[in-house]
Amino acid sequence: MTLQDKFSELDNQNKALLAVNFYNFETLSGVLRAAAAQDTAIILQSTKSTIDYLGLEVTAKLARAAISQYEVEAWLHLDHAQDVNLVKRALDTGYDSVMIDASEQPIEENREVTQQVVEMAKPYGANVEAELGYIAKLGQSKEKAAFTQPEEARDFVEQTGINALAVAIGSAHGFYDKEPNLDIPLLKRIREETPAALVLHGGSGIPDSQIQAAVTNGIRKINVATEVKNGFMNTLRQEVPKSDEIDLRKIFPPAIEHVQSLLEEKIAMINQA
Ligand code: 13P
Repeated sequence: MTLQDKFSELDNQNKALLAVNFYNFETLSGVLRAAAAQDTAIILQSTKSTIDYLGLEVTAKLARAAISQYEVEAWLHLDHAQDVNLVKRALDTGYDSVMIDASEQPIEENREVTQQVVEMAKPYGANVEAELGYIAKLGQSKEKAAFTQPEEARDFVEQTGINALAVAIGSAHGFYDKEPNLDIPLLKRIREETPAALVLHGGSGIPDSQIQAAVTNGIRKINVATEVKNGFMNTLRQEVPKSDEIDLRKIFPPAIEHVQSLLEEKIAMINQA
């Protein structure tokens, strides 16, 4: 099933998928073990930084091999690409879905580059996600607020032909300094205006009740990265000083298990929405 078809199915069920960033085999396997244990479909995401680290071919083929090994229904998604050439390379390497993020450009430029990516993705049958509004990236101010406007979202989706839209409704990437407060009434209005699958970025640290309200009111994809990195590294920090073990295959499993249990809880919570 294509991710676009999956989004239509989720729309009928008023449900959402978790989309998780991976960084190496250990985080990838933690994500897939969680999906397998919860018998649920999942989206695996990689950013340019992960692709720079692993190489594009290894990123894509490692993910494909792991999806097959863990027998999970999963899609490979390129997260936050700002360069059309990277999108093309990812499509050529077999990504199911790509995000072009020109949200920091003026809306005309965002529209133009997004249209270009939609055309580029057509022969591959790939899903295309774009972003409208301001969702603070790591290190950016969370005070600046430019939430997605419903009519602008409608026009942007119609004019570009994207399948999925990342909406700015009060979330931000990375850790929150204070509890986020998602604008659910705004989300409802955006949903009334557009059929695109709505995406919630910055899923780490949002209280469960708000995530569930977001799903009930139209979010179809929930992105989580920071909690995975943080949980993985904190577990390693605790484990490494405890022994002189040099067999790294004995050091990583507790961190993998941490990622698995963290995500199993999230999947169960999302599925209960
Ligand atoms: P967090 O790192 O805040 O979980 O956000 C993830 C994300 O939105 C990736 O695109």
